[in-house]
Amino acid sequence: PRPIWFSRHGESVFNSQGRIGGDSPLSARGILYAQKLEEFVHSVYRPDDPADRANPNLTVWTSTMLRTGMTVAGLNQSWEVIKWRCLDEIDAGMCDGLTYNEVAAQFPEEYRKRKEDKYNYRYPRGESYQDLFLRLEPLLFEMLRHTGPLLVVGHQAILRILYGYLTGKQPEECPDLPIPLHTVIQLTPQAYGCEEVWHTPMP
Ligand code: G3H
Repeated sequence: PRPIWFSRHGESVFNSQGRIGGDSPLSARGILYAQKLEEFVHSVYRPDDPADRANPNLTVWTSTMLRTGMTVAGLNQSWEVIKWRCLDEIDAGMCDGLTYNEVAAQFPEEYRKRKEDKYNYRYPRGESYQDLFLRLEPLLFEMLRHTGPLLVVGHQAILRILYGYLTGKQPEECPDLPIPLHTVIQLTPQAYGCEEVWHTPMP
């Protein structure tokens, strides 16, 4: 079985300001991570190795957003990169671009409702985690059918769902799963469950 690697995009300008959503470019640290991720992939995936020769084509799946595009820009020189719209980050609707403090100050009722039931809470004119499950379901089936090595460069909320599903978490647990920036989560499907290794290419 081939591993699936999950990584968030490198740190974005909005991440560094604590802002939700948006479509901002990578920060300087995020650009450094993109380089480290490329080095990491070259170090773990070697098509010359007998083990990897049977699967010469690493596939990279990512979203259509700027921060993921910048993160995979170096990778697409060597491998096929497929951009999926369904991998775009959760749509925060009218809270898009705000900090959590701004949401609490401007929309206290929304802030409270989300804290109470993060899985089912849908941002006004946006999405809930439950909505994400529905939009990711076809891709999850595609992922399970995929036989070659696969790198998914995604977003926090999206990877909470994909990682949570593959590691057998309850849907309601997914919105609080830690998926840190600048970390590659390696999952290798086994007969029962997944073998899991976390890598931090950038200290
Ligand atoms: O910007 C959106 C975040 O990735 C989602 O985080 O669901 O914990 O607010 P959250």
